[in-house]
Amino acid sequence: MTLKGTEILLGVAGGIAAFKAAALASRLTAAGAGVSVMMTEAAARLVAPQTFYALSGRPVRLSLWADPTSPHPHIGASKDARIFCIAPATADIMAKAAAGIADDLLSTTILAFGGPILLAPAMNRVMWSKPATQRNAARLKEDGFYFVGPETGRLSCGDEGVGRMAEPEAIERAIEEILAGSAPSRAAG
Ligand SMILES: Cc1cc2nc3c(=O)[nH]c(=O)nc-3n(C[C@H](O)[C@H](O)[C@H](O)COP(=O)(O)O)c2cc1C
Repeated sequence: MTLKGTEILLGVAGGIAAFKAAALASRLTAAGAGVSVMMTEAAARLVAPQTFYALSGRPVRLSLWADPTSPHPHIGASKDARIFCIAPATADIMAKAAAGIADDLLSTTILAFGGPILLAPAMNRVMWSKPATQRNAARLKEDGFYFVGPETGRLSCGDEGVGRMAEPEAIERAIEEILAGSAPSRAAG
């Protein structure tokens, strides 16, 4: 499966691993994909939207209410994309997606997007192991969301454990597998 000419929507939520999402945007673009990025308010505090603009060559969507390219940004963003990858997926965006909450651009687009959605969770190990987060992850798998990671290793807070975002290469591979129809199962962990 080659990503050349494939439209990919990349959602960046407010985890420190947002800097790795910049490397992912760069890889996908280098592979010939068209990459459209949207960021949450928290993500835009951690990494400048301009970084994603420079790497993808496309303006970055930040808000439901201030998008000059589309009167319905959540629909406009979804229209051409074959897959929606959210990296990093915060505990917060997973909770919203599991509950069907749509109170900002990223969460509203999750509801509005009809294709496959891949989540790359990243968070502190205690956040990941909390019953609420585990419940939300299980619900999202039941609902057909794809997951890549999280991995075990050193976390940005200095802890060791489960919660590291999958590496950009692994996320790219997961995207390829999903689009090729060879991902093990929509409910696979
Ligand atoms: C420096 C910093 C790093 C953070 N890293 C994470 C993270 O890795 N994962 C996570 O779930 N939340 C993290 N948070 C908390 C989220 O930013 C916070 O829950 C926010 O409301 C998430 O909003 P969003 O899901 O709309 O992006 C971090 C916060 C700060 C200040």
